[in-house]
Amino acid sequence: MSHPTHADGGHDLPHSHQKHYLIVAAVLTVVTAVEIGILFLPAVNGTWWVVPFIGVLAVFKFGLVVGEFMHLRPDHGVYKFLFMSPMFLALFSFIALSALAVVTYQPFGGGYAITQRDRKAGFVPPSAGGGFEVAWPEDKLKAAFAEAEKGGFAKGKATFASTCANCHRGDGGGMPALGPNMTDDCFKHGGSLAELYTTIGKGVQGTAMPAWSTSMSPDAIRQAAFFVRSLKGKNVAGGLECVGTKVAD
Ligand code: HEC
Repeated sequence: MSHPTHADGGHDLPHSHQKHYLIVAAVLTVVTAVEIGILFLPAVNGTWWVVPFIGVLAVFKFGLVVGEFMHLRPDHGVYKFLFMSPMFLALFSFIALSALAVVTYQPFGGGYAITQRDRKAGFVPPSAGGGFEVAWPEDKLKAAFAEAEKGGFAKGKATFASTCANCHRGDGGGMPALGPNMTDDCFKHGGSLAELYTTIGKGVQGTAMPAWSTSMSPDAIRQAAFFVRSLKGKNVAGGLECVGTKVAD
């Protein structure tokens, strides 16, 4: 391949070439450092403009490399267009797909992607505080319990059937080695509405009982707690032995 000769003579000297490439390499390094570093700034992470901003930097780097390293500068504009256009197509697809999802990315793990549909279904992304909202005061919980009772605990019942029955059995009687009986009047972690809410939300570390606050909204957890509480004292047939202490009230 023969090099095109430049009108400005000295430009092709090996030394100035080298210097030119070093400058481009330095610019690429700095831009990459900015791209990676910005993700670690808590104030920036998760703001709406991060992805477009990095997209712009990526386009800038791409243009720099294409323009400087690949000797495309003297080429005809049509070739440049052919070379660049798939990238804009890719960028467009990326932005269009991103718009479908609410994505919160955390570098090196802890990232998750959820859709608007998940949000509507009550999914609450885990936050730094574990996504857990402290229990309401007991009197407010009691009022909400009474409200749920009027509706036959329908929401909590549905959650229990879909999410909890795997371990606690469909009727709440418990399953050996999986989950304790919810229909006796024994609790290891307390039987008040606030305690049930907290146990369900935080789970029980070191056991199979998951922290549901990572996948359920506070309201869904409350409704599940109300339903569990409504099972107390039912003592279904074939239920597991009492575990913990008897709760009178
Ligand atoms: C993967 C199995 C599993 C699933 C699913 C599960 N649990 Fe549990 N759950 C357990 C185990 C095991 C324990 C006992 C923890 C311990 O030993 O302290 C427990 C304990 C509990 C307790 C505390 C009982 C006490 O004695 O204080 C409550 C309340 C509870 N689960 C409610 C729920 C609800 C509500 C759901 C559904 C949203 C659910 N669990 C889903 C396994 C499960």
